[in-house]
Amino acid sequence: MKELRTIILAAGKGTRFQSETPKVLHLLAGKPVLHYVLDVAAAVGSLRTYVVVGHKADMVRASVGARAEVVVQHEQLGTAHAVRCCAGHFKGVGGEVLVMCGDTPLLDKAVIRQLVADHRRQGRQATVLTTILADASGYGRIIRGEKGALVAIREQKDCSAEEAAVREINTGVYCFSAEALFASIGRIRPNPKKKEFYLTDIMALLAAQGGRTGAFVTDAWTANLGLNTRADLALAEKIFRDKIRAHWMENGVTLVDPATIYIEDGAHIGQDTVIYPCTYIHAGVRIGKNCSIGPFARLRPGTKLGDAVAVGNFAEISRSVLGDGVMMKHFSFLGDAVVGACANIGAGAVTANYDGHNKNKTRIGRRAFIGCDAVLVAPTEVGDGGVAGAGCVVTPSRKIPRGMVGVGVPVSIIQKAKTHE
Ligand code: UD1
Ligand code: CA
Repeated sequence: MKELRTIILAAGKGTRFQSETPKVLHLLAGKPVLHYVLDVAAAVGSLRTYVVVGHKADMVRASVGARAEVVVQHEQLGTAHAVRCCAGHFKGVGGEVLVMCGDTPLLDKAVIRQLVADHRRQGRQATVLTTILADASGYGRIIRGEKGALVAIREQKDCSAEEAAVREINTGVYCFSAEALFASIGRIRPNPKKKEFYLTDIMALLAAQGGRTGAFVTDAWTANLGLNTRADLALAEKIFRDKIRAHWMENGVTLVDPATIYIEDGAHIGQDTVIYPCTYIHAGVRIGKNCSIGPFARLRPGTKLGDAVAVGNFAEISRSVLGDGVMMKHFSFLGDAVVGACANIGAGAVTANYDGHNKNKTRIGRRAFIGCDAVLVAPTEVGDGGVAGAGCVVTPSRKIPRGMVGVGVPVSIIQKAKTHE
């Protein structure tokens, strides 16, 4: 198998986003837009991935971290110029280069694999991923010759009336032979109208030299949803969340009124769990089997629920682990807590996990009973089978030992609990 490397273009300003944050760092289903494109590169087996950055380069670099190498394009002189900035990394390098844009998070991994496979099978120097849109406005049009062969990609501004009527468009994803790409990219001239170097011009250039070029057509139109505006971001969010919801329903999770339930990318939900309306589940949350969540619950990052856990209305959980069978049915908050199996968290109970400087941990034992409106001031603990009376305040210096009952403010231990393990 020949080697595949990837270049992701992410240096543009994203002017239409009207944002202080680079558009590729805006969140889609809880994850930066650019990370979806990095995921695609990883999924298709990219040996090396380069992200071309420019606008707010440091912010983008920090977000990329160790996931890819960053190449700086100091001036945004166009997509061909951006690719050319990577030339130094491709000296004497063979194999293929996949080029994608950093603002297309809905790219389908399977389609990209097909694109690369088709490119290799046909022995081409360049293959562009295209799709047919009902409304092609704003996109580069695919110009084909008499026998249907790809002749050029024409930006809308440069199209004749006939060309503008073409509905096959450039998705902005390409597979190139690395050698052919870098041998010719320096010959692209600036576009006369925009004065930018267009990567799209490489197609006509290679074809003119007798190179094999072509298009791979996909019907996955969403693959092309490049996010240029916040309205595009909202549409992508909707499409992506629909996909996530469909995935969990296919995997045995009941969503009551799915449209009102928000599940971010990278959460996990066990079989036969039921999620009630208006519930928000953040990235990385893990929910066991046979749980009941919501309505109106919010599970924040770092939350892990065992099996048969019940989390009811207006409950919020953050960075906490709940054992099997925990009941937390009414408005309450757990943060930085570890809760043993079958504990009961009463209405209004909260962990006061933040002291103004640090987040502190709370441990609630197995079968512990936390009464209504109890406040657990962390770091603190209620032992296995312990009972925190209604309205009590458990402090760092006054913990409730295993099997004991504590009441009052601050808490005093008054007796043994009736039942404990
Ligand atoms: C581009 C294509 C168009 C295609 C469309 C698909 C060109 C000339 N046109 O148009 O045919 O239909 O994508 O969405 O390529 N970028 C840089 N450096 C630059 C300029 C851009 O890194 O100097 C990056 C941007 O951050 C962006 C990507 O390249 O991620 C595409 O640039 P953009 O200006 O959005 O191109 P489009 O006009 O959408
Ligand atoms: Ca774009």
